[in-house]
Amino acid sequence: MSLHQRLRAATAAAHENLERSLDWEARVATLDGYRVLLARFRGFHAVYEPAIGAALGDEAFFAPRRRLARLDADLRHLGATSDPDALPGPPAPALADPASAIGALYVLEGSTLGGQMIGRRIAALHGFDAETGCGYYLAHGRRTGAMWAAFRARLDALAEGPDAEAAAIAAAEATFDALRLWLCRMDCTAGVSA
Ligand code: HEM
Repeated sequence: MSLHQRLRAATAAAHENLERSLDWEARVATLDGYRVLLARFRGFHAVYEPAIGAALGDEAFFAPRRRLARLDADLRHLGATSDPDALPGPPAPALADPASAIGALYVLEGSTLGGQMIGRRIAALHGFDAETGCGYYLAHGRRTGAMWAAFRARLDALAEGPDAEAAAIAAAEATFDALRLWLCRMDCTAGVSA
């Protein structure tokens, strides 16, 4: 099995669990709910992107996959007035090496796949597009397939042996768990104002 296949198999239950717990259709049905959800993602990316960037050490590869600026633009479009840097975030992950970074990035980058469908739904509901309120979800747009293919190629290039693969898988599992806890907490309107 390739590392991608192993990551996919190891996190399939976590993906299903997150998909079930997220309740995204109900949450994005109103602009308030959508803003709160984006603010939670913003807090998560603000903590995970620097950690992934530092451990990966390959900004040319990572830069087009950063989505913090898109989250900020979407929140501004939705009329959020709070300082985005003041939004709460989860605890920082311990990513010690490029393999762990790529495992965590697998989760965030994979979310752009289902995100296309979710983004199209939000865009239709609220009259948004990638420039107006839906930049986070629509993310790579028509380049989604190509970006995912390049990411999978990068995973396969990680052939550094079983320790690196185990680190990538452990980081992906931990990131899925952290994201589910962070997005599905009941008190997650804290720190969000319009
Ligand atoms: C923040 C939440 C989510 C995260 C972190 C996430 C993560 C991922 C990951 C890592 C993959 C790649 C699987 C692979 O290796 O092939 C993936 C694929 C996919 N996800 Fe999600 N996902 C999320 C939410 C959702 C939701 C809510 C849906 C359903 C509406 C969804 C639908 C899909 C679909 C359809 C694919 C496969 C796309 C394809 O193979 O072309 N995801 N997601």
